[in-house]
Amino acid sequence: MQQVQAVIARSKGAPVEVVTINVPAPGPGEAVVKVETCGVCHTDLHYREGGINDEFPFLLGHEAAGVVEAVGEGVTEVAVGDSVVLNWRAVCGECRACQRGDLQYCFATHNAKQKMTLEDGTELSPALGIGAFAEKTLVAAGQCTKVDPDARKAAIGLLGCGVMAGIGAAINTGQATRGRSTAVIGCGGVGVAAIAGASLAGSSPIIAVDIDEKKLAKAKELGATHTVNSKEVDPVEAIKEICGGYYEGAEGADLVIEAVGRPETWKQGFYARDLAGVLVLVGVPTPDMKIPDMPLIDVFGRGGALKSSWYGDCLPSRDFPMLVDLYTQGRLDLDAFVTEEIGIGDVEAAFEKMHGGNVLRSVVVI
Ligand code: APR
Ligand code: ZN
Ligand code: ZN
Repeated sequence: MQQVQAVIARSKGAPVEVVTINVPAPGPGEAVVKVETCGVCHTDLHYREGGINDEFPFLLGHEAAGVVEAVGEGVTEVAVGDSVVLNWRAVCGECRACQRGDLQYCFATHNAKQKMTLEDGTELSPALGIGAFAEKTLVAAGQCTKVDPDARKAAIGLLGCGVMAGIGAAINTGQATRGRSTAVIGCGGVGVAAIAGASLAGSSPIIAVDIDEKKLAKAKELGATHTVNSKEVDPVEAIKEICGGYYEGAEGADLVIEAVGRPETWKQGFYARDLAGVLVLVGVPTPDMKIPDMPLIDVFGRGGALKSSWYGDCLPSRDFPMLVDLYTQGRLDLDAFVTEEIGIGDVEAAFEKMHGGNVLRSVVVI
């Protein structure tokens, strides 16, 4: 066991604190990772606000990159010294989803069995089974994906959550490809990552929709060919006009990605598709939100699909190394997502900045 500094949320709504925690030596199937960087995500704030569950105290942070310091018995996934990006869904290989080959739907995810604790012995709940606003953290070895050690960790660590969710919504869930159009509604971190993914896949045109001009400017940097300010114009009409269609009255995008998580933007996405278009929901609605009241005939009278994307339907072992390589080759601009590098004591301030809309990601550098 060793003691390190870490950021915890002790109770609902209380500001986060930097405290000393105990990190056990890795047991069978576990690894201790020396964390180098960890992005500040909305989900950390949700934990802090009690919106996920009430298993306080939480050890926050989950968009992390670092180096493996120690591994437990039987670990084959990674070795001491490997540079890794952490993921919150290490597939089990045994559940029904894994057995039929749909690894991206594995819900029996592996986390470390042992617990990290406060100095008084209180067990910590690591955010998304990771807990990486810490000098070191204990995870399941399968949560570590080995990547190019020379890549900038502050950038590649973001693949661990929001950026992967967006890129994966476009590439994995939406199957964006050359010769097909993509529209993305909501251009926060997730939405612009979806735009970057669609761009990587050769999709064109790529239409960014947001109510904030700053977000639209960022979307252009990451590959949007057109921008639509939905405060000023009807985004459905604008997307139809840009994309055209099979015949008059059936225009729209081949792929629409909803990255806000609200009924009204989902409805815009629904009607902005062409006849065979796919709508992917990657924004997370709150439990009280309902599908908008719409004529059922509008669902029947067209093909296409309505999908949801969870963690970008990613397989970390396949997708993380590929995207890190694309980054080091200069083909994927992950640096664009890093707005600022901050210290371990600055997480609360980073939460405050999230509301302003000027920050894609604050990244804690440890
Ligand atoms: N129409 C278009 N864009 C909108 C609208 C709207 N009605 N309302 C908000 N937006 C834009 C905001 O301006 C912002 O750019 O949606 C974006 C949301 O971005 P962030 O708040 O930065 O959220 P992000 O991290 O991108 O996550 C988006 O995906 O993973 C989920 O929980 C996450 O639901 C959230 C969504
Ligand atoms: Zn499984
Ligand atoms: Zn996250």
